[in-house]
Amino acid sequence: MVAISFLFLVCFFSFHLHAVAQPRNSTIRLGSSLTPTTTGKSAWLSPSGLYGFGFYPQGNGYGVGVFLAGVPQRTVVWTANRDAPPVPRTASLVLTTDGRLILQSPPRRDVYIVTDASQKIAAASMLDTGNFVVFNSDEDIIWQSFQYPTTSILQGQHPSAGMELFSSVSETDQSTGIFRLKMQHDGNLVQYPVDTPDTAPYSYWSSITDGKGDNVSLNLDNDGHLYMLNSTGFNIKDLNTGGYDDTNRTIYLMKIDSDGIFRLYSYRLDRNGNRSVIWSSTSDKCAPKGLCGLNGYCVDVDREANCICLPGFAPVIEGNFTAGCERNFSSDSCKSDDGTIQYTIQAAESTVWEDNGYSEVTSTTREECDTACYEDCNCEAAMFNDGKCTKQRLPLRYGRRDLSNSNIALIKSCFQIQKVFYRQQHKIVRDRCSYFV
Ligand SMILES: *[C@@H]1O[C@H](CO)[C@@H](O)[C@H](O)[C@H]1NC(C)=O
Ligand SMILES: *[C@@H]1O[C@H](CO)[C@@H](O)[C@H](O)[C@H]1NC(C)=O
Ligand SMILES: *[C@@H]1O[C@H](CO)[C@@H](O)[C@H](O)[C@H]1NC(C)=O
Ligand SMILES: *[C@@H]1O[C@H](CO)[C@@H](O)[C@H](O)[C@H]1NC(C)=O
Ligand SMILES: *[C@@H]1O[C@H](CO)[C@@H](O)[C@H](O)[C@H]1NC(C)=O
Ligand SMILES: *[C@@H]1O[C@H](CO)[C@@H](O)[C@H](O)[C@H]1NC(C)=O
Ligand SMILES: *[C@@H]1O[C@H](CO)[C@@H](O)[C@H](O)[C@H]1NC(C)=O
Repeated sequence: MVAISFLFLVCFFSFHLHAVAQPRNSTIRLGSSLTPTTTGKSAWLSPSGLYGFGFYPQGNGYGVGVFLAGVPQRTVVWTANRDAPPVPRTASLVLTTDGRLILQSPPRRDVYIVTDASQKIAAASMLDTGNFVVFNSDEDIIWQSFQYPTTSILQGQHPSAGMELFSSVSETDQSTGIFRLKMQHDGNLVQYPVDTPDTAPYSYWSSITDGKGDNVSLNLDNDGHLYMLNSTGFNIKDLNTGGYDDTNRTIYLMKIDSDGIFRLYSYRLDRNGNRSVIWSSTSDKCAPKGLCGLNGYCVDVDREANCICLPGFAPVIEGNFTAGCERNFSSDSCKSDDGTIQYTIQAAESTVWEDNGYSEVTSTTREECDTACYEDCNCEAAMFNDGKCTKQRLPLRYGRRDLSNSNIALIKSCFQIQKVFYRQQHKIVRDRCSYFV
């Protein structure tokens, strides 16, 4: 009797322990659905609860994607339809009984989250790796979020040649921002602003592995090792050598941040998700080209990026660097009493820009460069550097201060705005070409 009770207790306990240790079945069956604000029904979690697939706050509504759910500060690691407008709280995500994963938000049309699955979905699963996967009826994976990185890569995710990550607008707005990181077919991993050709003049960081052949991949291991493998599996570059905590107490995430720098982060799950930067592509916050938008240039102030407008320009949107700068005066305000327009040349010293010169004036002095621009009605700005003068049209792009560079940006400006200061220093030129009209 004692023996039987004992056996019963053992069975009871082992069953109980088994039930606790057993991960939740994370299989998402057909007919399942989520809504943004229903408690416990806004995301499908991975077995340990570390990652979730579902709704996250975006703008004045919600976006859909994968996020770190197991830490207090939710971090979005993958985004579906990132540039679609946010959906309201009445939206729902449905894995339909006929095998489609769709976002419903009437009166808008349904949006397919899994767009390229040629077969019907039989089930889906949010894995503990952060990969959201979709199965067919043979339990083969037919689609996975790891195949379509947005801003970030996680352990086990290896973007291959041709793939590109895009920064977000900000930490809280997951729409596509203004920087990209591309794994090129020439073996080089390169950062560029968006909407530029993949050519050297636009790049602001590279792994310097060009010529290493096609099919190079970027890899992240569970000890923070961030490296590149060539097509035959040789390590051709360590970006970060790793060797950190490789237990499941710590996870690593590589992300191209909205400031254009890509960083490797660690999250200490045993310390309330404490996040640290363990590697970054640069410590120069002004390196990302285009951070300051048009007609602005980046100045490093105590290791933080600060944007300054060209002389005669003001921010388009105060406090938003990306929006750039525009002339802050009208042609009317430039008119002098006799109705003619007067302008002067103002300078931004030690600044470098994209060179979009349309005409070069050789072996000149700074004054001759000023004059060459004054006298050319098409000239809105000029670059003067070491006896070389190039006339430019606005807007100027990719500007930054570089104290080691003697390049000077010369800007044709309305004379009135700086009249008092410039009267003594600069010649005043009467308009002959109605420059501002
Ligand atoms: C989870 O659910 C799926 C679908 O019902 C089933 O096939 C699978 O065996 C379950 N897995 C476990 C571990 O219970
Ligand atoms: C790269 O990978 C693709 C697809 O796996 C393959 O077809 C191609 O031959 C590979 N190229 C090289 C140079 O290894
Ligand atoms: C990969 O790198 C190894 C070591 O540098 C080299 O021997 C091999 O030829 C490379 N593979 C390709 C496809 O370039
Ligand atoms: C971490 O690993 C330990 C030992 O392998 C395991 O008991 C624990 O459940 C794991 N924790 C998570 C969050 O996966
Ligand atoms: C997070 O970790 C850093 C360094 O590892 C430490 O200085 C900091 O105090 C930690 N913060 C919290 C909230 O634990
Ligand atoms: C800044 O301005 C740009 C361009 O006008 C816009 O796309 C972006 O959303 C703005 N950023 C913020 C944080 O408001
Ligand atoms: C243009 O900007 C300058 C510098 O910010 C300022 O001093 C000036 O008053 C502005 N002019 C106009 C017309 O807003």
